[in-house]
Amino acid sequence: MSYDIQQIHDLRFRRFLSRTEIADRIVAIGKEVSADYQGKQPVIISILNGSFIFAADLLRTLTIDPFITFVKLSSYQGIQTTGLVSTVLGLDCSLKNKDVILLEDILDTGKTLYEFAHQLQQEHQPASLKIATLFYKPDAVQYPIQADYIGFSIPNIFVVGYGLDYNGFGRSLPDLYVLAEE
Ligand code: XMP
Ligand code: MG
Repeated sequence: MSYDIQQIHDLRFRRFLSRTEIADRIVAIGKEVSADYQGKQPVIISILNGSFIFAADLLRTLTIDPFITFVKLSSYQGIQTTGLVSTVLGLDCSLKNKDVILLEDILDTGKTLYEFAHQLQQEHQPASLKIATLFYKPDAVQYPIQADYIGFSIPNIFVVGYGLDYNGFGRSLPDLYVLAEE
């Protein structure tokens, strides 16, 4: 599928970044990561579901040989007034004294990465921890978290495609689409 406008459920989206632009940027990030971790074997943790396509494309540009694993984070409303708590499903290796890179599809409010990164530091004591996000919404950030590798800064508008979904659909679109104004 490849159209300028996509209808998903009740919403219309328009193409915002092409697969070529995304691929070129990922090659550049891959070079940076490969240079930064030369001679090392970092553990790359891809945060599901959204980052699986980014992970697949980025990993194949690397000239280092990382260990790759996946986690799924589920958030729920806690009973404390502190609000949401994240649960990690699938982290199946020790990170102690390892160089860890978290891969995320999009950094929006920053909540997911802030909580997960904090939890990893506390519970696993990695030697180092960096964050790579393909998309970043600077105007949406509410938590004190910074990504070390950023693909694209984008406006604070809902996006789909390239792994990102609207209610489960749109993930397989090769380009990135943004919610169209009516
Ligand atoms: P936070 O707010 O924790 O959000 O930084 C990160 C997670 O929220 C989802 N998300 C989006 N998903 N289009 C999507 O399809 C978007 O524009 C969007 N913004 C946030 C996403 O799962 C991400 O991991
Ligand atoms: Mg995600």
